[in-house]
Amino acid sequence: MTSSQKDDIRVPFALPDIQDGEVEEVVAALRSGWITTGPRTHEFERRFARFVGSPHAVAVNSATAGLHLCLEVAGVGPGDAVIVPTVTFASSALVALHCGAEPVLADIDEETGLATAETMQAAAARAREMGLRPAVFMPVHLAGQACDMDAIRRAAAQYQARIVEDAAHALPTTYQGRLVGSISEYTVFSFYATKTIATGEGGMITVRDETTARRLKTLRLHGISTDVWDRYRSDRPKWYYEVVAAGYKYNMPDLAAALGLRQLARCEEMARRRKEIAEIYAEEWRDLPIQPLGIRRPEDRHAWHLYIVRLVGAGPAERQAFIEQLAEQGVGASVHFIPLHRMPVFRDRPGMSREFFPGAEAYHANCVSLPLFSAMSERDVEYVVRAVRRAVTSL
Ligand SMILES: Cc1ncc(COP(=O)(O)O)c(C=O)c1O
Repeated sequence: MTSSQKDDIRVPFALPDIQDGEVEEVVAALRSGWITTGPRTHEFERRFARFVGSPHAVAVNSATAGLHLCLEVAGVGPGDAVIVPTVTFASSALVALHCGAEPVLADIDEETGLATAETMQAAAARAREMGLRPAVFMPVHLAGQACDMDAIRRAAAQYQARIVEDAAHALPTTYQGRLVGSISEYTVFSFYATKTIATGEGGMITVRDETTARRLKTLRLHGISTDVWDRYRSDRPKWYYEVVAAGYKYNMPDLAAALGLRQLARCEEMARRRKEIAEIYAEEWRDLPIQPLGIRRPEDRHAWHLYIVRLVGAGPAERQAFIEQLAEQGVGASVHFIPLHRMPVFRDRPGMSREFFPGAEAYHANCVSLPLFSAMSERDVEYVVRAVRRAVTSL
């Protein structure tokens, strides 16, 4: 993008919602003399666990890091398959490769964009045919809407597979009255810059089991048995540590946790704003040939990380014209996601033929994501409402 094009942006696709409280907390962390993992990270973990209703939360420096750690702790390795939807961000599947396992992709329900128990089971059956053991089912709560976790849990149980929820979009999302993060053995959230709460880069794992939480904390920091802050406070010499596993550098610094603490405190308020905007869009565009993603269960709470619509009767060429029309009016749009079976890194691996993914192929032909973020002003929303109407009618 040239700088003149950038200046023309009237409403970007996404912006973080940063207020004075966040700025003050980061400055306080900077002034405290402790900027890596320390008291703010520990406090963020405590408050996050309480917020979603999970016994334990482990902060990491991205959701990708969190997903990788969960697979490792779940014992995933060569000969194993990780069942993951084809419509997701690449890292949901890349982490399987990092463990030496095979990502086996599941189709989605075209209406909701979500993988279902049936599509995940079909992928697991394909994995078996390839001689792999379906070790993990990884549902992705696309856009912030919960997958049908009861049905997926039953499907996974048939293979004795574990569940690792990719909840990168799902804060705060409920499934049958429970917040995502309190439901499964492993759940992973993202605080990437555009997410519903943002720390720049960051992620959180929620788990039920204390031993698992401890192991995750060890692995997130080189395999060192206690983190620097705990060493600092313990009775042992401060220089003493033991490396007990081949861990990673996945810890969250206190600077990010400072942002996270203040963002979490405003999570409900920001979620309400996202919902309000989603409702305005749905109402304003009712007469247009654009169809928001189907709502699976209206009683579940949707986090509205993304506002995805389908351009009814349109194909990729019209979708591109629509996105360009919006860009001409200074409105950002995007596509979530290019199905993974089309990606060069995956497409030559076994089981990636397009014929396995009719739902994802149809969805991908005309899906588009429109600006939805809590920092949008009334004028921004009105501007997007009008720009979309003009862009659709010009097709
Ligand atoms: C569905 C999904 N999973 C995982 C990730 C990875 O998150 P992070 O950037 O925090 O690693 C993303 C990021 O956009 C995502 O959309």
